Amino acid sequence: MALRVALAPGMALYFSPTKGNGRSPRVSMASTIPSSPKVESLKKPFSPPMEAHLQVTHSMPPQKIEIFKSLEDWAQNNILVLLKPVEKSWQPQDFLPDSSSEGFYDEVKELREQSREIPDDYYVCLVGDMITEEALPTYQTMLNTLDGVRDETGASLTSWAIWTRAWTAEENRHGDLLNKYLYLTGRVDMKQIEKTIQYLIGSGMDPRTENSPYLGFIYTSFQERATFISHGNTARLAKEHGDLKLAQICGIIAADEKRHETAYTKIVEKLFEIDPDDTMLAFADMMKKKITMPAHLMYDGRDDNLFEHFSAVAQRLGVYTAKDYADILDFLVRRWNVEKITGLSGEGNQAQDFVCTLASRIRRLEERAQGRAKQAPHIPFSWIYGRVVQL
Ligand SMILES: [Fe+2]
Ligand SMILES: [Fe+2]
Repeated sequence: MALRVALAPGMALYFSPTKGNGRSPRVSMASTIPSSPKVESLKKPFSPPMEAHLQVTHSMPPQKIEIFKSLEDWAQNNILVLLKPVEKSWQPQDFLPDSSSEGFYDEVKELREQSREIPDDYYVCLVGDMITEEALPTYQTMLNTLDGVRDETGASLTSWAIWTRAWTAEENRHGDLLNKYLYLTGRVDMKQIEKTIQYLIGSGMDPRTENSPYLGFIYTSFQERATFISHGNTARLAKEHGDLKLAQICGIIAADEKRHETAYTKIVEKLFEIDPDDTMLAFADMMKKKITMPAHLMYDGRDDNLFEHFSAVAQRLGVYTAKDYADILDFLVRRWNVEKITGLSGEGNQAQDFVCTLASRIRRLEERAQGRAKQAPHIPFSWIYGRVVQL
């Protein structure tokens, strides 16, 4: 049972009791007054602890839905062309031993020998990346929360719905390939990994995009770039460890992420063109709230801070770092020509100043944090049979 505490008329703060696994209480806020934008409380069973914040829904004024309807043809001509036809797409099987072939066992043996050269901390990063990819149902759901672009039927013929389904189908190959590859290495605890995936999909994600395609496409622009960077870095490191097959696997996934980044950044570029003020406000809003990683609710049944631990290893190995976060922000500011946009409202001008100066502020904070950094602890990861890795 959640404990309800009245705050102000119509508002309530919900505290959920600590669960049996010793995790800290979860706090969420909910409104009992039907208003727009709406505020909802978190669902119970699969919600790990997280900071208290309002879950805002439908913050985009309904009349703006028309903008996305009017962009149908534009999306068909500019966004759908960035999808790759299935017949021209790579498939996981292209990079894996063929289980129907005579040479299967030899190929698997070779793959396993090669994988012995790769250190445990690298596997923590690769497993975390794979789990992130495997929570794809959550990301398709997230796209279908967005007003004006959601797939209304499951087989809708709007450009937006066609994009979302085909994007999902392309992304589905990423988790498949990494999952099968990691299974064959014999280096990782597949059952623990599978449990983490089940927990993660059950928990969802909380990107705070408020059903707004403005916020949603800024979020996906950022995220596709982030995954492009992290898969690119696991490719680079695999090469350094002498595993060219694995480098190829990570590299081919990174190339997809880059193409997806091109699509999402193009959508936001268009929004800046036709609605600069609200797009600027949305950009600043997303960055103020900070871009949460899609797998931030990750849990394996054991480690209450699994995502933080995985992120720390990724930071130390240079797979995905605080510097990358600032670099992505810089990249997007340049990509959308944010500094040059004119004719904004007072609020729009403030938002512009905020996003244009944020990357340097993040870098300064990061440098200070680095200066204070203590000796990093060693932590066991269930994904690698409890072997210990330095954070
Ligand atoms: Fe992906
Ligand atoms: Fe992606």
